Amino acid sequence: MSSAGDPGAGDDFQRYLRAKRTVDDRAIDRRVFDRLREELAGRESLRVLDVGAGLGASLRRFLARDALPDRVEYVLVDRDGATLAAARETLPARAGELGYEASKDESPDGGVLLSRDDERVRVEFVRGDALAVASDREREYDLLVGQAFLDLVDPAALSDLLSCLRAGGLWYFPITYDGGTRFAPAHPLDDAVERAYHAHMDAQPKAGSAAGRAVFGALPDRAAVLAAAGSDWVVYPRDRGYPDDEAYFLRYVLDTVAGAVGERATDPNATDGGAAALDPDALDDWLATRRGQVEAGELTYVAHQLDLLGRVE
Ligand SMILES: C[S@@+](CC[C@H](N)C(=O)[O-])C[C@H]1O[C@@H](n2cnc3c(N)ncnc32)[C@H](O)[C@@H]1O
Repeated sequence: MSSAGDPGAGDDFQRYLRAKRTVDDRAIDRRVFDRLREELAGRESLRVLDVGAGLGASLRRFLARDALPDRVEYVLVDRDGATLAAARETLPARAGELGYEASKDESPDGGVLLSRDDERVRVEFVRGDALAVASDREREYDLLVGQAFLDLVDPAALSDLLSCLRAGGLWYFPITYDGGTRFAPAHPLDDAVERAYHAHMDAQPKAGSAAGRAVFGALPDRAAVLAAAGSDWVVYPRDRGYPDDEAYFLRYVLDTVAGAVGERATDPNATDGGAAALDPDALDDWLATRRGQVEAGELTYVAHQLDLLGRVE
């Protein structure tokens, strides 16, 4: 599923973000991640801007994998205030599981300082539009992160996003949707559902269903790719069930896909994408079948995505 399934604030969305953590951690490409780790090795300090940060999944992974230097300023940006508030509330406990002590500072932004031995990670939370924040903070950061985010952004805006990086700064866009939403066992409507889902994503001026591969053509001259690889989500049953909260993750994905396809099917301007073939009853049947397969522990889901790492001059 693409990040286009982001309905904004709400407990369901936050539970979805929590549930996708185990799926993301399996999917993240280790070669690209290790290349990032190599690029960061030997640095004493780092300033990071994490756009569309959600509950802070990328920060958590960096901490869990000891990928950051000892002195870090880490800024989480999200336009959804409820999700950002939840990120701030839950950070101390989540970092505590990794051995960090957390103290909230007195600054107006309500930042959090994480300490573990010699490590100090100062986390700031900024509610706002990622492009506006990145443009306002020109050449201030060493690393720009955007996980499951680029499909929500017009590729033409990539150079605005990268403008927050200093010369030599790195950008890392893991879990970037790249046009594949597949299920097993097969259902006769699957191809039409995927086409209409992509058409729904592509109807607005944003990278949409081809976000991953679009990066290669949209990079400004000062940016180069250092590493790229697939990071597909693969969710499959074990013993007629799913690990952790992945059954919820699947239900959320199915509802998001069906919701988008349903909107597309009733859009009078939609003439492409196979939407015409999808009458509401058939779509309801597809969704009911897929939900039943989740309950029975029979559904497998694969989404094609890319991890992308690069540098700016
Ligand atoms: C699919 S979620 C990914 C969250 C997190 N990066 C993760 O992987 O768990 C996309 C997030 O981007 C945020 N978002 C979408 N468009 C945005 C924008 N223009 N500026 C800032 N945040 C945005 C949404 O509120 C949502 O939290």
